[in-house]
Amino acid sequence: MTRAPDAAGRRALALYRDAPWQERAHVHVRWWSAPFRRLATLLPDAGPVLEIGCGHGLFSAYAALAGPGRRVVGVDIDADKVAVGAGAAGRVANLELAVAPDGAVPPGPWAAVVVVDVLYLLPADAQRRLLLAAAEQVAPGGRLVVKEMGTAPRWKVRWNRWQETVSVRVLRITEGSATFTFVPPDVVAGWLRDAGLTVTATRLDAGRVHPHHVLVGERPSA
Ligand SMILES: C[S@@+](CC[C@H](N)C(=O)[O-])C[C@H]1O[C@@H](n2cnc3c(N)ncnc32)[C@H](O)[C@@H]1O
Repeated sequence: MTRAPDAAGRRALALYRDAPWQERAHVHVRWWSAPFRRLATLLPDAGPVLEIGCGHGLFSAYAALAGPGRRVVGVDIDADKVAVGAGAAGRVANLELAVAPDGAVPPGPWAAVVVVDVLYLLPADAQRRLLLAAAEQVAPGGRLVVKEMGTAPRWKVRWNRWQETVSVRVLRITEGSATFTFVPPDVVAGWLRDAGLTVTATRLDAGRVHPHHVLVGERPSA
């Protein structure tokens, strides 16, 4: 799938036109480096969708604009990012961004909960707790979509670690601990199964320098 923004992607990026240049640059880099178009196809077309760790809200905004039947709520622990995102989100009727405390999962039931490149900033036990709490809020027939970096191939893993180190420790774009914890996807898949979800794992790194990987955990219909 092409990484060029589609119409909804262009509209989502344009929402940040009044943001400071650093944030504008950041959301454009996020668009080009993350497989947002593919991820949005994994969400249901309609219903309530929660993004945990939405940052500036670009993916939430894109999901809302690409799926007008969705009601998207994005939460993040970083009040500064949410403030920038909220300025943009105010222009989209089916989108809301809010600050949430660390580990908090707004109550559902959600047709989908999505977590994009957040877990690696948490220790493994906190990752597991957050996903179990998120899974509890997924409606019957709904899904938990977890996008993280995989642990292969090694050169993409090394490239990603270098870039994250610059982003978190040098540029301080992202809030997070001084260490990163990339849990292997099969271990994360086991956590989702423990939560009663049926899991599909897919690599999304073809043609990309980052080892993108997504897990989709589906809760059986009641
Ligand atoms: C790399 S950014 C990804 C942002 C967004 N999901 C995206 O794909 O552009 C990671 C985000 O996770 C947030 N974060 C870190 N720990 C979190 C937690 N425990 N709960 C919610 N958000 C968290 C950070 O503040 C940051 O905005």
